[in-house]
Amino acid sequence: MRVLVVGSGAREHALCVALRADAAVTDLVCAPGNAGTAELASTRPVDPNDPAAVAALAAELRPDLTVIGPEAPLVAGAADAVRACGLTVFGPSAAAAAIEGSKAFAKDVMAAAGVPTAESLLCEGAAAVQSALDAFGPPYVVKEDGLAAGKGVLVTADRAAATEHAERAVAAVGRVLVEDYLDGPEVSLFGISDGASVLTLLPAQDFKRAYDGDRGPNTGGMGAYSPVPDVGAAQVEDLRRTVLEPTLAELARRGTPFVGVLYAGLALTRRGPQVVEFNARFGDPETQVVLALLDTPVAGLLRAAATGTLAGYPRPQWRPGAAVTVVVAAEGYPSAPRVGDPVGGLAEAAAVPGVTVLHAGTARDGDVVRSAGGRVLSITATGSSLSAARAAAYEAASLIRLAGAHYRRDIAVVAAERADAAGAGS
Ligand code: GLY
Repeated sequence: MRVLVVGSGAREHALCVALRADAAVTDLVCAPGNAGTAELASTRPVDPNDPAAVAALAAELRPDLTVIGPEAPLVAGAADAVRACGLTVFGPSAAAAAIEGSKAFAKDVMAAAGVPTAESLLCEGAAAVQSALDAFGPPYVVKEDGLAAGKGVLVTADRAAATEHAERAVAAVGRVLVEDYLDGPEVSLFGISDGASVLTLLPAQDFKRAYDGDRGPNTGGMGAYSPVPDVGAAQVEDLRRTVLEPTLAELARRGTPFVGVLYAGLALTRRGPQVVEFNARFGDPETQVVLALLDTPVAGLLRAAATGTLAGYPRPQWRPGAAVTVVVAAEGYPSAPRVGDPVGGLAEAAAVPGVTVLHAGTARDGDVVRSAGGRVLSITATGSSLSAARAAAYEAASLIRLAGAHYRRDIAVVAAERADAAGAGS
């Protein structure tokens, strides 16, 4: 099978690693890719956010499967453009990707599908914003109604900050969503869908704040682990039935079936699981840990979804143990990351048993790998338990040499302690 992966982050590097491990994959191209993907896939330059350019590349390569990684190309219509060339694509149409592209659309779909989520008010002016903030009270949850590269959602106890964020969003797109705060731990669950059937992957938990103890600004994600000790197979099946299936059925009913990975970000509240957000693609960095544990050949699974043949497809199988990923970020991330610094210690880190060094924002400059984005590496490790995977990931992270780099020291620490205490190990 010849596969084209579109994107350039650690999620796409993780997809390339998993695809390379699938014996059915004979040829792999990653466009535009990064210094890490270049080691196991051919690289082609492309602007992923330009659907015509993505389609032109796919039309030239004629892969058996195109996998579109990030949300912006999907919302812009890259999957539609590739499908229009008569090619097989894993990734939703722009109409279905609106489940991520518009918070208001997602709320409308959830209301129609009876999927539990926070109450919300769509506000189109300053007075409506103030009355919504009054109605829900602190902590305030303010969501821009569009893609904002992880910066669209503000959760704060600071009324002035909530007001400013909401007014900026209204000025930009004419409306903003204010919603009730959902307490409880969050979990990310991916459903692989062909538009009708859905298969779940292992749940994962990510860490969105920049600094230890969930302090600091929101980021794209500073680390993740899987499996999640408190979310077992029975709860995953329940979430498939009550969240993923009805959402996918509602999208199909509207004539926009969702083909790809539907990512449910869930809060496990005292009143039961509630959807915090849907995304239309694999999560980053959750994908790094979920794919590290996937035993089922990934190309066949994604192609079955892309060709509408998921019904009756065997459930994904998993390797025993656990996986942890730690994101090494550039100085100044997330507000003003510095790029262009040499990244050293890659081979030493990769030599730690169980570790795969996944590249996010990197670029090759002759013999040197340089930082080229805010999240530079996603150091991913598997182990017999969360504790073992953590230890390996942190040993490897400590070997990376990147001026001014920072990473969280507490990824998966609580879950690992709980798993160890329960004697489950995973
Ligand atoms: N880890 C959060 C996301 O992928 O949106």
